Amino acid sequence: MKKNSIIVLLLFTIITVTAQQSSIPEVEELLSKMTLEEKIGQLNLLTPGGGVATGAVVSENVEAKIKAGQVGGLFGVAGPDRVRQAQEIAVKNSRLKIPLIIGSDVIHGYKTTFPIPLGISCSWDMGLVEQVARVAATEATADGICWNFSPMVDIARDPRWGRIAEGAGEDPYLGSQVAIAMVKGYQGDDLAASNTMMACVKHLALYGAAEAGRDYNSVDMSRVKMFNQYLPPYQAAVDAGVGSAMSSFNDIDGIPATGNKWLLTDLLRERWGFKGFVVSDYTSVNEMIDHGLGDLQAVSALALKAGLDMDMVGEGFLTTLKKSLEEGKVTEEEITVACRRILEAKYKLGLFDDPFKYNDSSRPAKDILSAEHRAIARKVAAHSFVLLKNENDVLPLAKNAKIALIGAMANEKNNMLGTWAPTGDIQYAVPIMEGLKAVAPQASISYAKGANITDDKALAEKINVFGLRVTVDSKTSEAMLKEALDNAAKADVVVAVVGEASEMTGEAASRTDIQIPESQKVLIRALVKTGKPVVLVLMSGRPMDISEEFALPVSILQIWHPGVEAGNAVADVLFGDYNPSGRLTTSWPRNVGQIPVYYSMKITGRPGTDTFQKFRSNYLDAPNSPLIPFGYGLSYTDFEYSGLKISKSEIGLNSGVQVSVNVKNTGDREGEEVVQLYIRDVVRSITPPSRELKAFKKILLKSGEEQTVTFDLKPDSFKFYNSELEFIAEPGTFEIFVGKDATTDRKVTVEMK
Ligand code: BGC
Repeated sequence: MKKNSIIVLLLFTIITVTAQQSSIPEVEELLSKMTLEEKIGQLNLLTPGGGVATGAVVSENVEAKIKAGQVGGLFGVAGPDRVRQAQEIAVKNSRLKIPLIIGSDVIHGYKTTFPIPLGISCSWDMGLVEQVARVAATEATADGICWNFSPMVDIARDPRWGRIAEGAGEDPYLGSQVAIAMVKGYQGDDLAASNTMMACVKHLALYGAAEAGRDYNSVDMSRVKMFNQYLPPYQAAVDAGVGSAMSSFNDIDGIPATGNKWLLTDLLRERWGFKGFVVSDYTSVNEMIDHGLGDLQAVSALALKAGLDMDMVGEGFLTTLKKSLEEGKVTEEEITVACRRILEAKYKLGLFDDPFKYNDSSRPAKDILSAEHRAIARKVAAHSFVLLKNENDVLPLAKNAKIALIGAMANEKNNMLGTWAPTGDIQYAVPIMEGLKAVAPQASISYAKGANITDDKALAEKINVFGLRVTVDSKTSEAMLKEALDNAAKADVVVAVVGEASEMTGEAASRTDIQIPESQKVLIRALVKTGKPVVLVLMSGRPMDISEEFALPVSILQIWHPGVEAGNAVADVLFGDYNPSGRLTTSWPRNVGQIPVYYSMKITGRPGTDTFQKFRSNYLDAPNSPLIPFGYGLSYTDFEYSGLKISKSEIGLNSGVQVSVNVKNTGDREGEEVVQLYIRDVVRSITPPSRELKAFKKILLKSGEEQTVTFDLKPDSFKFYNSELEFIAEPGTFEIFVGKDATTDRKVTVEMK
């Protein structure tokens, strides 16, 4: 070899070795002292059980494993003292005294439970979203937790999928804004502070596109669809500096995400520049055996080589990596790289400086469920509600009204927190009845159950896995209905709280029928027949098929599962102390046969028509449009749009433009409007979506007030991923729509030259 080539080779080796080393000298020093077993131990995440189960398996002999240096982190352990005990075992009894990273699922608040994430997204208020995450981090860190398995940013367009409740709905732009706000809220400006926590973006990737809406099912998707529609929120979280990511259960291109090198290395690290660590989902390494990819040793090696750093609960890494190394199936360098990333995370959190920094026993009493946090939860809940119908302007109700409050969920706590609230506590929830009485003490309110959530005992049993959510009453349906109708007869207005119990959505809670259960439909029909004004307060963790109820002369307020302040927030909106401002972040289908239905669907080569035409992209038995569009929501006031303007009619490639519109509050009370901007790229090299949300602003207007809302569209608003997966804009016409929901036809156009 020539001298020059040797120098080049040497330089190359030095550069690659340095590139693989941590910029944190303490981490390198520690690594140099670690045995192979200790490195593998750091890749092991366990849950000792004892809390609310989030998976089917719990870990055994956890204490002995910590002492032996076989555990990198724990989840499902909470409370400053309990966490301290675990941490003490690690830093006093393990050879290298490496602290544990302590994780948890803090999905919509810690003890101060906020509405389900799908509800929060309907606020379209990123300041509030960030505040939710900030409160959650303050409370969780007070309880010893420094790592959060949130935000969940899976785009979901199939309301059969129970986990649609956990994300921000169907849209990649809105989903990205929510992802950024949540990462900022959890991590703050200083990850080493004792009241901030490391976020974990999940579930990478495409988990929301599970076939047929059945949880854990396969995903098969083109790259252009992934890049344009499903990946943006994960990337937004990475760009916002998220510290960790969780791989999903599903496969992508036939390879489960947990063992998918293209996903975990080529895309996440090389293309997006992610610097944190990747944890598997609950036993998702082991589940690759059932996926059909080999035995535990084979799938564990596959995951490590793909770029997975930490194994959640399954202990495949712990029990097989050494053997794989001996057999040459993995390299020591691959184990070291994963270990380095986990140590770096612990370092960034400040755990090496002080392993007990989240274990101040005086914090829970002042930081958890404080009056201030509860007030924020009440505000967020009210902002998450979406007014779907206001028949004869029945709402808001007078504070001295005579109300027949009806429904199995109207006077209880069990369903208020919503799914995925394992850290919440039902006992703190405010029932709707209690909230109404507190906000309107002059009102006269009677209560009757009216109907079971469902009469189906077998279904009730499945829903009650985490505790009682559904009780099938010993009274007959007829007796319950009679009570409700008697109360209705004596009232000015009926408020019927109907819909889904909290565990009718969430993980492993998919439904093929997304209507209100029949027992409650019978009740609603009978209540409407009384001729009294009826307000349906609809609870659900998903968009529902409410075609029947929407056609009835009723008002409908969608409240999701509203969290710990449920009753108070519902009362604030029903009595008009807060004017509802939520807007849907999913399209609501007319029936399950339409699914998936989302606003950005392509128009096809034979565009659908309003009335059926042969040889067009239509259904024989239903329109193409959803029952209720994305972005929709009413207010107790009205807003008028006028004067839509664009700053230029022609722009160059890679430039932006300003669009403005006047919005006036024409009603008689103050209210908030979400002004939404959509773009249609009329001509381009791959078929465009019918339109895409590119900007929005939420504004508050007093009665009679008018404001000019200006959107400063950046060049990226006009770009998309082409067939080569390049993010580019192409010349041509762009239509820009501005209005109150995704169906608006108020538009301007701009030519890109
Ligand atoms: C869920 C994750 C969660 C994990 C740990 C899994 O079943 O899919 O979202 O973070 O459990 O609780």
